[in-house]
Amino acid sequence: MQQILEHKIVLVTGAARGLGAAYARGIVEAGGSVMIADLLAEDGVALAAELGDRAAFVTLDVTDPEAWDVAVAATVEHFGGIDGLVNNAGISATGVPAVEESIETFDRIIAVNLRSVYLGMRAVTPEMRKRGGGSIVNISSAAGLIGLALTGAYGAAKWGVRGLSKVAAVELGREKIRVNSVHPGMVLTPMTAPTGISLDEGAFPNNPMQRVGRPEELVGAITYLLSDAASYTTGAELAVDGGWTAGPSIEYVMGQ
Ligand SMILES: NC(=O)c1ccc[n+]([C@@H]2O[C@H](COP(=O)([O-])OP(=O)(O)OC[C@H]3O[C@@H](n4cnc5c(N)ncnc54)[C@H](O)[C@@H]3O)[C@@H](O)[C@H]2O)c1
Repeated sequence: MQQILEHKIVLVTGAARGLGAAYARGIVEAGGSVMIADLLAEDGVALAAELGDRAAFVTLDVTDPEAWDVAVAATVEHFGGIDGLVNNAGISATGVPAVEESIETFDRIIAVNLRSVYLGMRAVTPEMRKRGGGSIVNISSAAGLIGLALTGAYGAAKWGVRGLSKVAAVELGREKIRVNSVHPGMVLTPMTAPTGISLDEGAFPNNPMQRVGRPEELVGAITYLLSDAASYTTGAELAVDGGWTAGPSIEYVMGQ
């Protein structure tokens, strides 16, 4: 792979497994260094060991402002600074209608999936300023681009991530801190596996590509946005969803 992230230091939240682990692998393959930040210490430490010297692990609960300070300090101490942040950690929708979600669950999903993004941007910005710029990639969802049934709090959080990314992009542009949102479609990970989705062609007939995605298929979008190849890209939203949010597949529309 092209070394587009050579000398870049990136903190990825929720990187012990699933999509975050794929991003961590992709960052190291592209020549960068990665701080794997997650609640899952065992998985995170094992992944860091597998990836070698340009990877390390720090325990982080993304809902805890003080833990953010510790994670950022650990990254700076270990690697020498921070050029990139991928706000990826998240918890799934509960699959109940929005108005039937409990208040406690609603608040929890907002805290982990949206408030965390604010806390993360707030924590890394001083370090990015010291380096004269940076790139923040906030992971939203297809559910942050359309109204997806049974994703009330999740969808609200992901729309919030998209909006917050644009506000931060506008505010930080002059300081060369770029902020973009990425919107994965349905991807097979430990989060989505319990729903029984399969990678088989044709298994997702509503989707123009008619299949769900693999974590590796998101990596290029993330490494691109973190790299200097995206030096004029900020405030953008990138759907990586097999065309899901563009509209239903022609076969689905024609009832085939
Ligand atoms: N898989 C999909 O189809 C899909 C689609 C759209 C968006 N996304 C988003 O992508 C991101 C990653 O999803 P995934 O499918 O890899 O999920 P996953 O459940 O496989 O991984 C999520 C990771 O986040 C960590 N995490 C959860 N709460 C945390 C907290 N409070 N502090 C720190 N870490 C925490 C978990 O320990 C886990 O390692 C999420 O933000 C999710 O909403 C996923």
